Order: sequence, then structure tokens, then C-alpha cells
Amino acid sequence: MCGIFAYLNYNVNRERRYILQVLFNGLRRLEYRGYDSAGISIDNDFSFSRDPSTSQSSFSPSLSPPPLVFRQEGNIESLVRSVYQDVAATELNLEESFSIHAGIAHTRWATHGEPAPRNSHPQTSGPGNDFLVVHNGVITNYEVLKETLVRHGFTFESETDTEVIPKLAKFVFDKANEEGFHCQTLSKKDIITTQFEEVSTEKITGVLQMSWKQGEFDREEIEKMRNLLKILEKPTVVCSLGKVSSSGDRTVTFSQVVLEVMRHLEGAYALIFKSRHYPNELIACKRGSPLLLGVKELNEDVCGGSAFHDAKFLSKNGNPKELFLSSDANALIEHTKKVLVIEDGEVVHLKEGCVSILKFDNDKGRNGANLSRPASVQRALSILEMEVEQINKGKYEHYMQKEIHEQPESLTTTMRGRLIRGGSCKAKAVLLGGLKDHLKTIRRSRRIVFIGCGTSYNAALAARPVLEELSGVPVTMEIASDLLDRQGPIYREDTAVFVSQSGETADTLRALEYALENGALCVGITNTVGSVIARNTHCGIHINAGCEIGVASTKAYTSQIAVMAMLALAIGGDTISNQERREAIIDGLFDLPNKIREVLKLDQEMKDLAKLLIAEQSLLVFGRGYNFATALEGALKVKEVALMHSEGILAGEMKHGPLALVDENLPIVVIATRDACFSKQQSVIQQLHARKGRLIVMCSKGDAASVCSGGACRVIEVPQVEDCLQPVVNIVPLQLLAYHLTVLRGYNVDQPRNLAKSVTTQ
Ligand code: AGP
Ligand code: GLU
Repeated sequence: MCGIFAYLNYNVNRERRYILQVLFNGLRRLEYRGYDSAGISIDNDFSFSRDPSTSQSSFSPSLSPPPLVFRQEGNIESLVRSVYQDVAATELNLEESFSIHAGIAHTRWATHGEPAPRNSHPQTSGPGNDFLVVHNGVITNYEVLKETLVRHGFTFESETDTEVIPKLAKFVFDKANEEGFHCQTLSKKDIITTQFEEVSTEKITGVLQMSWKQGEFDREEIEKMRNLLKILEKPTVVCSLGKVSSSGDRTVTFSQVVLEVMRHLEGAYALIFKSRHYPNELIACKRGSPLLLGVKELNEDVCGGSAFHDAKFLSKNGNPKELFLSSDANALIEHTKKVLVIEDGEVVHLKEGCVSILKFDNDKGRNGANLSRPASVQRALSILEMEVEQINKGKYEHYMQKEIHEQPESLTTTMRGRLIRGGSCKAKAVLLGGLKDHLKTIRRSRRIVFIGCGTSYNAALAARPVLEELSGVPVTMEIASDLLDRQGPIYREDTAVFVSQSGETADTLRALEYALENGALCVGITNTVGSVIARNTHCGIHINAGCEIGVASTKAYTSQIAVMAMLALAIGGDTISNQERREAIIDGLFDLPNKIREVLKLDQEMKDLAKLLIAEQSLLVFGRGYNFATALEGALKVKEVALMHSEGILAGEMKHGPLALVDENLPIVVIATRDACFSKQQSVIQQLHARKGRLIVMCSKGDAASVCSGGACRVIEVPQVEDCLQPVVNIVPLQLLAYHLTVLRGYNVDQPRNLAKSVTTQ
């Protein structure tokens, strides 16, 4: 995934220096989404357009000057440095003021093509930067499009999938102006099976109707189209966009061009387009990847409120305003809380201070062909429930550190309003509003299937035993990509629970589509309100852990487990036989924030341990039962941020292979806190002692002597809680260990090598 951002000021003067700062700050907020390279585009000096000595090949005096593009490998700060160097070298005027200006920006996590300036975004249509695009996602049919465009004379400079998009936009735009036809992709099959008359009336005239009236083709134009159709071998673009008027003015609009481009794109994307043909306009569209519009009306106080209060979409009122587009709310919150979550298939056009939205409207044509027509939609803005402080590091050096330490608070928020403490006449209980209408169906399910990736999968694994115990329904586990690879069975009688911090992980999303197709009841557990998973599941629970920025998931993990423990309580019947257990879990949940405060005091101890392990190549973590997940998650944290090989191992499997690795050098963490598996873990420790294993044992407070009786070991003592909640406590020392190891080894803890916060590619 990556981060895309745009800033458009309208009827308010902004200097170029200020515009650059807004774009850079937007990127800084989105940097956690991808950080291998970055780029921006802003407008050139106006005087440039009048400079006859310009060497730009496609320069035309009637056109605005080609926008400037800056791209750089590395993080945002390298881009910032290189932009200011270029600005100084070219003597670009930073004080030049624009009353209207549209800038775009991108921070990349490469999917196609190594991190390098040529592969960074904005990607361009070619010399002259007629069309520029920033993209989050993957275009799966880019090879076919590239071939077609190359045949039409385009030269590609990057290895990205994205580059076809601006080039296709230029192709569509040029064709529209040359041919005066609407555009449509037709396959060979279409051509053979469709009468030409039907093509013109159904397929072509039905496509884009905004600046074009039906029946306007004359014989000559029809002949031209017939010839075009004849030469088609592969699905190719046939252009028939808005006609050029007799005065020679262009009538094709920016949104028509983008709608046509979208029609040809397959895969997942959020896109922002900038074009010198449409100065001071921006177009945003998406399918799959997230995108938000932020609106800041600058004279709101004078006018007594936003135009959105009475109008459903932002109309042209001439009021000064600033409009923002961003992959997520983090980059908007410091400017405005008024946002619109752009939906799949929508094309959002920012022009002259006005926002208009078009959406493909699926409609079956006369011969059954799927003819989607763009229709105008009206949408209301929503208000972000988020504060800037939540996305700042505060007193901490790193986001991961902050997020580890704020777990007592994040857990409190997760549980707020959902647990009833009980009293003299009230039973202890759990209330999960988002699930209440579906609890009966879940209880009657043939099985519950947990689906997720990485840390989210581990959280589900930690909660699995308590869910099985309280619900009595069999619970199975699926890593999203593996479920898809196997096309594993999912039935109508299943409840599929999708666990995802971001709510936008591609593998999990595809698995959700798959489960929906198979008729399962789909439940979402996510941290991101409005995310695709939150929107596309039948019901669900938000974990409310607050914004998580560190790439390594920490507070989301503990909140996910707490939510799934509550889910188990909500599904499980309240019978006399399990009353005591249920009450103990509810009490345990109430007390959890305090216990996390206690375990966080191990910070210095974990730092000291990290110092001992700093030069190690590898670390094994043994766990079982409730804490098998802790072993997997602890090892995942160490490997993803400290870049040290680490493996979580089910302790019951130790003697079936991993024992061969044990010697006096390899450090091994054994999780042996009190629960039903405690005696088995004691036996594991003995077997490791017998092989002179170098042990670090995590045990419940007061158990140090008993767990280390057979040999030397280092001990991490943690507070004991109800067994099913113990993974929430036990993971904290391992999170701290991973954090300190990373800092001591000199790696970037918030932006681990090769990773990004959420993975929007399969
Ligand atoms: C967590 O530390 C990892 N960065 C990663 O495993 C993550 O949990 C995984 O990609 C799933 O993300 P999600 O929860 O946003 O779906
Ligand atoms: N596929 C594009 C590229 O590799 C965008 C990457 C992304 O969204 O992470 O440049």
C-alpha cells in the first residue's frame, strides 16, 4: 500500500512555500503506509507559460505550463531535501502566491518496480506532464494496457503498473479531441456478435452522456468507427468522447476522461489525477483502496456554517475553501474534521471550489450487456471523531513505544460501555451493540471460522480457546491467503469472523468476498470505522483502540483479544454451570488495564534483556494453550522490527523437531504462566535444561523458583490474570523486548525494512 494526498486551495491566497509544506506534512502523516520513495507535483511559475524560449516539446501557449514533478527514493525527508535543492537550483519563486492551486503527493510502498525516482509517483503521461497520477493499489491488467499504448506510440519510463494510467488518460483525451467520439472498450467478441447499429446506440451512446447528445453521429463518423472496429484484435479503446465544437473548443471534461480510464482498469486502486489541460482541478476515484475527502471552508464562522449543512454536496458558492484528499484521516485531522469517505466506483471532481461526484450506475443493456452509466450522486459529510494529539508521539520517541505504553488506556476504551459490572440485582454481562441482532444465528452456526493475517490472526488464535469453551461451537482458524489458495470450504451455516486492524488488508478482503459468495454470516472485528471490512461485513465490533501508526501492531493486538473474549461471553449462554467462570472473566477484563500498568513496569528489565540479546542471530519462543499465540506474536514482533530471526513454536511440538536446535547459545523464551498447561510447560523447561538450553522463562509472579529449579535461567515475572486473558498481559514484555532490541540494534522501529502498515496487495 502507499499514501496519496492532495491539497487544493480555492479563492484563498497561498504561497508556493505554504503549499509545499501542506503537501509534505500530509506525506509525513501517511508515511507509515509506505516509505521507500515519495513524490509531489505542484504548478510551475505562471511566467513560464509565456516564455517563448521554453524547450518543452508539448508546450503550447494556450495551455497552462507543465506542472512540476519532484520524485525521490527514500523517506519523506529525502524528498523534502531534494525539492528544496531543486527549487534553489532553478530559482523557483517560493513566495509566488496562488489564489487557486492543486497539488498532489505520494509516499510509496513498491509493488511493481524497485524504489527509484523513475518508479516513484506522480507517474506521468510523458513529456509535458499532461496528466499526472498518484496511485495506491495494483493494476492487474496493466500489461495488456501497456501493450496497447505502446502500439499507439507511447514510451514507458518506469516498471510500475501505475504508468499506464496517466498515459491512458492522455490517449483518451487526445483521441477525444481528434476524433470527437465517445470511448468504450470493445472485445473481439463484442464486434462479432453485435450489430454495428447496436454498438452505436447501446454500447457507445450509453456510456458517457454528459456532453454528448444521442443520435449525433453522421454517416462519416459511423464509417470511421466501423473502420476502427475492423482493426481491433484485442480489447482496445475506441474513442468517441465529447465532440469538438465548431469553434474548436474542447468539450471533453476531466471527469469524462477519468471515467473512461477507470472503465479499462482492473485491480485495486485509489487515484488522484492532475492535468495541465484542467488547471486547478483534481479528480479522485477509487476501487478497493481507501480515500477520503476533507473540506475546510475558511469563512464558516462568517457564513454561519458549512455549505454541507443544507446541501448534500459542496456546491459552487465562491467561498474560500481548502480541499484535501488523503488515504486516511491522519493527514486530514490537522486541517479539518469534515470528511467524506469516497466509495468504490465514485469519481470525485474538485473544480472551482465545487465538489461533484459521479458514480457508475450498473444497468443492463437491451442485449444483456452490462452498460454502466455514470450518474451524479449526492453525499453528506461526516465528522471525524479524532484529535490531533492521538496521532502525535507525545512524550515518546517512537510510535511503537507510545502505542505499547498506552495499552491500559486503549483497553479501557475498547471495553467502555460494553461490560456491566453487575450489582445486587444486576448480573455481570457483556453488551455488544453491533452484534445483538445476529447472536442467535452465530450460536446456531455449524462452526465459527476466524480469518485474518499476521498479528490479527495471532489475536484470533489467542481468543480461540475461550470462544470454544463458552460458545460450544467448533472454532477453526484460517490465514486469509491460505484459505484463498486452497479455496477452503466455507458454508452457509458458518460464521466467518474477519479480524483486521486496518480493515483494508487485501488478503482478508478477498477472503471476505469469498465467504460472502459462499453465504456465510460475516462478522468484522476492526479498528477502522468506515473501512471496507467494517462496511462489507453483515455485523461486527470496532475495537476502538485508537489510531495505530507503528507498523508493528501492539495495542490493536491486545484490544482485539479483549474484544474476542467479550464476543465469547456474548455468544456463550449464561447458564448456572458457567456463571462463575463468566463472572471471573468479566472481573478480569475490568482489571486488565491495571494489570497492564503493572507489567509495563518491566520496561527497564526488558531493555536490559535486549542488551544481552543484541548480537544474537535468532530467538525461539515456546508457548502452548492460550499462549501459543503469544509465542507466535512475540516472535513476529522481534522479526519484523528488530530484523532478527525469531520463531514462535508450539511447545508440544518441541520434541518433534525444534529440540535439535537447542544448545547453550541459542536464546529461548519459554512462556510458563499459570494455567492448565503449566505442568506440561514445567516439563518442557526440564527437557531444555537437560540440553543446556539458554532459557528466559516468563512465569506468573512468585513462580520464579519453581520454574527454574532444574538449571540456570533468566526469569520474567508477570502478574497473573484469568487464564484466557493472560495472553494480553504476556505479550507486553515481548513487545517491549522487540522495541528495545530494535532501537539498540539501530533500526527504524516505526518503519521496518520492506514493510508498510497495511498490505493492500495480495
Ligand atoms: C503486525 O505487526 C504486522 N505488521 C502485520 O502482521 C499485520 O498484523 C497484518 O498485515 C494484518 O493487518 P491488519 O490487521 O490491518 O489486517
Ligand atoms: N502499484 C503501485 C507501485 O508499485 C502503487 C504501490 C502501492 O500502492 O503501494 O508503484
